[in-house]
Amino acid sequence: AKDPVRVLVTGAAGQIGYALVPMIARGVMLGADQPVILHMLDIPPAAEALNGVKMELVDAAFPLLKGVVATTDVVEACKGVHIAVMVGGFPRKEGMERKDVMSKNVSIYKSQASALEAHAAANCKVLVVANPANTNALILKEFAPSIPEKNITCLTRLDHNRALGQVSERLSVQVSDVKNVIIWGNHSSTQYPDVTHATVKTSAGEKAIRELVADDAWLNGEFICTVQQRGAAIIKARKFSSALSAASSACDHIRDWVVGTPEGTWVSMGVYSDGSYDVPAGLIYSFPVTCKNGEWSIVQGLSIDDFSRNKLNKTAEELSEEKALAYSCLA
Ligand code: NAI
Repeated sequence: AKDPVRVLVTGAAGQIGYALVPMIARGVMLGADQPVILHMLDIPPAAEALNGVKMELVDAAFPLLKGVVATTDVVEACKGVHIAVMVGGFPRKEGMERKDVMSKNVSIYKSQASALEAHAAANCKVLVVANPANTNALILKEFAPSIPEKNITCLTRLDHNRALGQVSERLSVQVSDVKNVIIWGNHSSTQYPDVTHATVKTSAGEKAIRELVADDAWLNGEFICTVQQRGAAIIKARKFSSALSAASSACDHIRDWVVGTPEGTWVSMGVYSDGSYDVPAGLIYSFPVTCKNGEWSIVQGLSIDDFSRNKLNKTAEELSEEKALAYSCLA
């Protein structure tokens, strides 16, 4: 039998946490033959709720779940973890300035970076979900210098999956037959969902989406807006964030990273930019990536037209501004 993998979920008493921990315990993230030990962190006001989640995990009698650590102590939470899914953060509340929210999250991610650096297993893989996801991941990277930068990522897979979903609905095709959309940039409303290289499997072979969706106005307008605004639409409808789909996409992100992407398929991940596609180096930016042997690499050589170039630049500018704001909070 395999040794259990220790998976940390921060903010585990929250909405996404509640959807995510049973998926991990069922093997959705790491596979149906991989035992897991869940580490759940939240803050003291949520300690009782966190304990309730732990009680339910016991009650669900998951065969793969070999242990649960539920704690408000960040050091205990990080001890020996192989995978860290960072969902905890400070939400923007009505009337709060952007800078105030940034400042709260910068201080959370700075201290959690130090705890991970000191206590996580070597080669721990980190996925930041909490917003502002890209910039929280960047702060985590800056304050955990001994964790390889390749191990620190943020979640844009939900946006990627939303784009697949929109195309599948529009064309009335199976979502599993749609592939190679790209989310570029920030997990925010400036992200660029790009279908230029995306394809659909049809009975006549693989076809470009642009060939099948004749309506360029839809692809260049409504499609992009729908994906960009989907999070807000879910909050409006449900009064809560998109917890189910965020949790499921977080599992997709980690699974593909660990197990590898299928031949000929790429996915979107927020990763540390090396300057590919003229995106400024030193930002956490969402790129198309393939994964193999537990490592991602940015898909190279895709053509970028003027329409796309503009959108890649715009979301990069927003990330540079966020980075500057985050640094001003540290000063
Ligand atoms: P929530 O408010 O239900 O849960 C957040 C949890 O984090 C709460 O239990 C809170 O007590 C905890 N928390 C706060 N500070 C913490 C700290 N310092 N350490 C550990 N835990 C802490 O929020 P929800 O709906 O679960 O969303 C979580 C985050 O994910 C939010 O920032 C949200 O904006 C973001 N999100 C990101 C998505 C993505 O695709 N990247 C998609 C949907 C949400």
